[in-house]
Amino acid sequence: MRVLISSKELQARIDELAAAITADYQGTRPVLICVLKGAVFFIADLTRRLPFDLEIEFMAVSSYGHSSESSGVVRILKDLDTDIEGRHVLIVEDIIDSGLTLQYLTKTLKARNPASLEVVTLLSKPSRRKADLECRYTGFEIPNEFVVGYGLDHAENYRNLPYLGVVDERE
Ligand code: IMP
Ligand code: MG
Repeated sequence: MRVLISSKELQARIDELAAAITADYQGTRPVLICVLKGAVFFIADLTRRLPFDLEIEFMAVSSYGHSSESSGVVRILKDLDTDIEGRHVLIVEDIIDSGLTLQYLTKTLKARNPASLEVVTLLSKPSRRKADLECRYTGFEIPNEFVVGYGLDHAENYRNLPYLGVVDERE
């Protein structure tokens, strides 16, 4: 395993993201939506740095099926437990790759008439983008490599690593 972003670097960047989000959302009691499972670690560390009232909700979508490429056909496996009409909504994502999953998700949630809808993603692979979408806050832009750890998996392994790594071909 090769370390791409250390635990210390991740945490330092999350401090900065939290400061930016606090400046924008303090007093609005936003709904933060965690997209399962990859964003679990990120939303846990992020929200513990947000010193204002907020709600946390979970959503699960199937993006890839059995292939390793996003198809753009997304199924909602677990929907929100709350109505977001008139609420300030912030989607919390682990990584934006093609962007197709998030494009579908934002379209679906916008139809429910939130007061605002923005995205914070820990990671982004801009070179892979197929969908045109706006992301308000990005933690790190990374090269086109398959990364694991800090919530991200390869066949459900490695989510528990405290850092972000790249699996060696030979491993
Ligand atoms: P998209 O629809 O192509 O943007 O796919 C986004 C989803 O694919 C993410 O939420 C991850 O679950 C998964 N994914 C994309 N790239 C990686 C990676 O490098 N490591 C682990 N999962 C990834
Ligand atoms: Mg994900």
